[in-house]
Amino acid sequence: MLLNKVEKLLMNNPVRGAVQRHYEARRLRHMGGIMAGGRALEIGCGRGVGVEIILDRFGADTVDAFDLDADMVRRAQARLARFGDRVSLWTGDATAIPADDDTYDAVFDFGIIHHIPDWRAALREVHRVLRPGGLLYADEIYEKFLRHPLVRALLAHPGDDRFDHARFARALEGVGLHVVASYDEGHFGFFVARKV
Ligand SMILES: C[S@@+](CC[C@H](N)C(=O)[O-])C[C@H]1O[C@@H](n2cnc3c(N)ncnc32)[C@H](O)[C@@H]1O
Repeated sequence: MLLNKVEKLLMNNPVRGAVQRHYEARRLRHMGGIMAGGRALEIGCGRGVGVEIILDRFGADTVDAFDLDADMVRRAQARLARFGDRVSLWTGDATAIPADDDTYDAVFDFGIIHHIPDWRAALREVHRVLRPGGLLYADEIYEKFLRHPLVRALLAHPGDDRFDHARFARALEGVGLHVVASYDEGHFGFFVARKV
């Protein structure tokens, strides 16, 4: 689902970019290593900071990326124009990814799957478009955080069937994404999982 106004403000500012670059990406790189070439996909790319990180810090050759929100995609297009044909962007839904099976060497999820009502469908799609042996790098937000009264008052998320670290891990394994590394912060967590 789309972000409400408050969360959109929180996402579209330099502090969010710094956290993504200096904390989340660093942890995911430490857990899963770099790509050193290859083709990546980012689901729910927001304003495009993740794409920069996947190119600069993970070493992808090319990145495809999409977001449900056309306004976010426009922001990403403006931000990423300098990368030319190394980056391809579109408006789309992670539960129906317009790519062939076994396309990508890596898929990145910087905190978007908890926004999807049928989040297991998104995991099935991630599995489908990854090549065998390809990696999912994910950081995700857990039910404990989403249920906090302040978070409920300020932000909008799907109401039921959310997940914690163990539940997300089981769902990954259930679709055929084997967890090779994970880190549980309680309110949020990190995963690197390999398509078996
Ligand atoms: C919390 S923001 C994170 C944005 C960006 N990944 C970041 O780390 O700054 C979640 C993003 O997921 C997008 N989104 C929500 N549901 C989606 C879906 N089903 N498919 C693709 N993008 C989705 C939202 O529009 C929003 O840009």
